[in-house]
Amino acid sequence: MNSVPALRVERRFAQTYREYLEARGVWQPRYRVQKYSDGTVALPLSQNCLPELDLHTLKLTVAPGSSISIVYIQTPTLSKRERVMSDNDKLVKALQELLVSHGERWSEELREDVPHCWQRHGDLVLIGEGCFLQPVWKSMGLELWQAVAHGLGCKRLAQIGRVSGDEFRTPVVTMLLGEDSIVMHVDNRIRYEFDVTKCMFSSGNITEKLRIASFDCSGETVVDLYAGIGYFTLPYLVHAGAAHVHACEWNPHALSALKRNLELNGVSERCTVHEGDNRQLRLCDLADRVNLGLIPSSREGWPTACRLLKRDAGGILHVHQNVTSSPPRPTGPAPLTHDASSPGGGQGAGVGSEPSQKSDAQREARRRWAEDTAAIIASLLCDISGKPWRTSIRHIEHVKSYAPHIHHLVLDLECRPR
Ligand SMILES: C[S@@+](CC[C@H](N)C(=O)[O-])C[C@H]1O[C@@H](n2cnc3c(N)ncnc32)[C@H](O)[C@@H]1O
Repeated sequence: MNSVPALRVERRFAQTYREYLEARGVWQPRYRVQKYSDGTVALPLSQNCLPELDLHTLKLTVAPGSSISIVYIQTPTLSKRERVMSDNDKLVKALQELLVSHGERWSEELREDVPHCWQRHGDLVLIGEGCFLQPVWKSMGLELWQAVAHGLGCKRLAQIGRVSGDEFRTPVVTMLLGEDSIVMHVDNRIRYEFDVTKCMFSSGNITEKLRIASFDCSGETVVDLYAGIGYFTLPYLVHAGAAHVHACEWNPHALSALKRNLELNGVSERCTVHEGDNRQLRLCDLADRVNLGLIPSSREGWPTACRLLKRDAGGILHVHQNVTSSPPRPTGPAPLTHDASSPGGGQGAGVGSEPSQKSDAQREARRRWAEDTAAIIASLLCDISGKPWRTSIRHIEHVKSYAPHIHHLVLDLECRPR
């Protein structure tokens, strides 16, 4: 039977367990995490780690307040990485055939020059800029892009450069195959239509979109300060059931896609779109929740968010930020004496020090950032309303890693007048 062992944990502890399992090499990256309707998830494990896995020690080491068990995922789904790898094989095969037909020879250097990841939006694939740099590709012209499209199983192809430094963070995208640059992307039953050459789509934010979709916002007024094409505005309206969303956006291209997407998903009646710089927004004292989805930092929007919260009742802020944690200190040889009374004592000397130091540094950076943010926002709220406020850290969500020590986090901050 095709099944894999997995560690079943509550969703809120999943990231912490995942980091721990990955650091110890017992994580099985071939398969996807399985989600259950009771709010738990199953993290796939490598088969041979099972005999050595002591659940009691694991729980005490990683998250003492959690409950965990071993389950088996029947017919597991391949992870995105695995599926991309097989797409990658098809791409390489298509390119090898093209080269042979041109009397050229395949080499490892050329394999390095083939894209390893891409974004798929319906029948259009967006590749990055650091590929197809070798001179041999130049002579192939359109045939090259046709072969790439064939290998990737798409009809249209575009290439994305860096997000430009303009105030709108416009991506520099060039169409390579096909002329129409409008795409339809469907995520969690929400339809997003946009022009890939004019708007950015943050595929990496899918976990945050799913988290928002799981909120219960019935009866709530929500403000999305950085709406873009509706990445978060739409889950608030379609799945979280917000009574009304005020969506702010200043990029004209994103604005037209946002309005179109509200229509497409049948929720425009519950959304007011505010065009222009959100710092000039005239609204105040109406929000139960404010979404501040801008990275690297949404700091410039904090005073506006504070003005927007209901003066009498307060509400929740979802503050996005790229947080940098300092790299772990290099570790020396494992100490000969190991604290047997410590939770990780049973794991064996030399295994525990480096990964736990790494997660300690991350935890510390997250905690410090969240506490600083909570203090600054409490003081802003106090200045704005002329009365004291209490801010409480409800949750810190890890959205994605940018680099080994840079993490996109979201702080759920509850803000209440005293
Ligand atoms: C990076 S996108 C984020 C979209 C979405 N929240 C996500 O994470 O995928 C940020 C959006 O905020 C808009 N934006 C940035 N600063 C703004 C401001 N001061 N007023 C209105 N919109 C702004 C940008 O045009 C862009 O569409």
